[in-house]
Amino acid sequence: MFRSGVRVDDSMQAVTAHPTFADPRNIAVLATYLAALEANPTPVTGPGDHLRAAQELYDHICTACHGPNGRGEEANRVPRIAGQHYPYLRKQIESAAGFHRDLAPPEMTSALRGLRSEEKDALADYISRLGDSKAP
Ligand code: HEC
Repeated sequence: MFRSGVRVDDSMQAVTAHPTFADPRNIAVLATYLAALEANPTPVTGPGDHLRAAQELYDHICTACHGPNGRGEEANRVPRIAGQHYPYLRKQIESAAGFHRDLAPPEMTSALRGLRSEEKDALADYISRLGDSKAP
């Protein structure tokens, strides 16, 4: 799929086109299963530079929705971001900043758009270290 000249990864759309997902009960069952899985205890992290600056940015902008520990808020459908792989987080941050995530709230996209590339690197690095086992 192409939007604004940038290729958006559509591999998951191909998966969700499978007839299994025509039944919303199957989606709910799968989501329940995935939500119960343990978080990865050893995510890929970034280079570890600028974590303090990233923490300030995170606390200032992201905590309001994702929570201080990055665990998200189920009631408001804010996803857990703590302890995801650094490259994945970096990609999602770029994608949200470029309006390529349909569901991302405007508060988040506008905040991310205002950040420099190094700040987005540092944020992804910091968030990859947020978790139960790897405190920054
Ligand atoms: C106004 C509330 C809000 C704020 C503020 C916010 N987010 Fe989000 N964020 C969300 C919601 C809701 C989603 C899920 C929507 C979506 O899938 O795009 C999300 C999704 C994400 C994702 C994708 C998660 C995944 O597993 O794919 C990342 C990464 C993320 N946010 C990072 C951040 C960072 C970094 C900040 C601070 C600079 C931030 N968010 C600020 C509400 C917010």
